Amino acid sequence: MAKKTVKDVELKGRKVLVRVDFNVPMDKETGEITDDNRIVQALPTIRYIIDQGGKAILFSHLGKIKKKEDKEKNSLSPVAMRLSHLLEKDVRFVSVTRGPVLEKAIDELKDGGVLLFENTRFEDLDGKKESKNDPELGKYWASLGDIFVNDAFGTAHRNHASNVGIASNIECVSGFLMEKEIKFIGGAVDNPTHPYIAILGGAKVSDKIAVIENLLKKADKVLVGGGMMFTFLKAKGLNIGKSLCEDDRIEFAKSLLETAGDKLVLPIDAVVAKSFSNDAEFRQTSVDDIKADEMGLDIGPKTVELFSNALQGAKTVVWNGPMGVFEMENFAKGTIGVCEAIANLDATTIIGGGDSAAAAIQLGYADRFTHISTGGGASLTYLEGKALPGIASIANQ
Ligand code: 3PG
Repeated sequence: MAKKTVKDVELKGRKVLVRVDFNVPMDKETGEITDDNRIVQALPTIRYIIDQGGKAILFSHLGKIKKKEDKEKNSLSPVAMRLSHLLEKDVRFVSVTRGPVLEKAIDELKDGGVLLFENTRFEDLDGKKESKNDPELGKYWASLGDIFVNDAFGTAHRNHASNVGIASNIECVSGFLMEKEIKFIGGAVDNPTHPYIAILGGAKVSDKIAVIENLLKKADKVLVGGGMMFTFLKAKGLNIGKSLCEDDRIEFAKSLLETAGDKLVLPIDAVVAKSFSNDAEFRQTSVDDIKADEMGLDIGPKTVELFSNALQGAKTVVWNGPMGVFEMENFAKGTIGVCEAIANLDATTIIGGGDSAAAAIQLGYADRFTHISTGGGASLTYLEGKALPGIASIANQ
């Protein structure tokens, strides 16, 4: 069912609570934001609210807060500065998550003003109130505003006070980013146009079991690359040398291979090296000729061709997980090749967040995909076919 959006509610002069996902990567030494994509993707919603004369009261989590010392490294203060720069507008940062200082700052906020308050997970120090969706906390945050806009797709798989908790107290509508994520990732799960091809990579089969199972039901083909391909190759009885392998998933891989038949497409060649280093000597080899002292670090060129051919004519493509160790130049060609092949299709092309989204953006392909999700865990959970609490708590149209 379609969700209500920020366009369906009155905003002028109202205190608009906006849950964003500003959980952005930061340099551990300098504290600088290394990728502001999540902030950039939230701008349309924030701009719309302030253009309509609403008072935007933003909040987000950042990192995990387990002990007092975690607070310093995970303050949202640098995010407020970056947001102010991107919006070309003052952003009032409030360094607490509750109490009179925050309440006064909200009262003082003018129509069209923007305020960001401190990391919602600072509330986790006192009994995991945010992460355990403490009902009092959700109720308190809800009391600070008139309407709630949830634009934090990246957090939608969490049942936390700052999304679900607030939504159980005041009406919750989606922001534009959330709307877009539901349209594309939800669309690929519930109502894809066929032929529908999924490409899965990344290191571990165990992280993607439910995704592979669900996509095998929905898609016409599932292409598997990345570190996890070796567990499948071993399950087929091939020697994989020192390649990454989850031995406790071999039986699962075997049963999938049996039931999926030719729907599941595995690589036919790989790039192998004797050590996990960009300086290591490497070679391309058929997957049935990997030596005992070699490890596979990328798919090979024949596999890129195989996958590119399988993609021809596709109308929906979902990609999650790199094809190799793309951070190392010598093992990035498989990921680049697949990225290029998808980017050239006349299809709805979606990257399901995480490392493959980072790879596509880093490689300069961002504009050539229909949608690059801002959610890692959230898009995986969505692709598993599960309901996301953060989305379920948004009002229906
Ligand atoms: C993410 O980065 O996937 C989201 O912001 C959720 O963060 P979490 O895994 O710490 O809940």
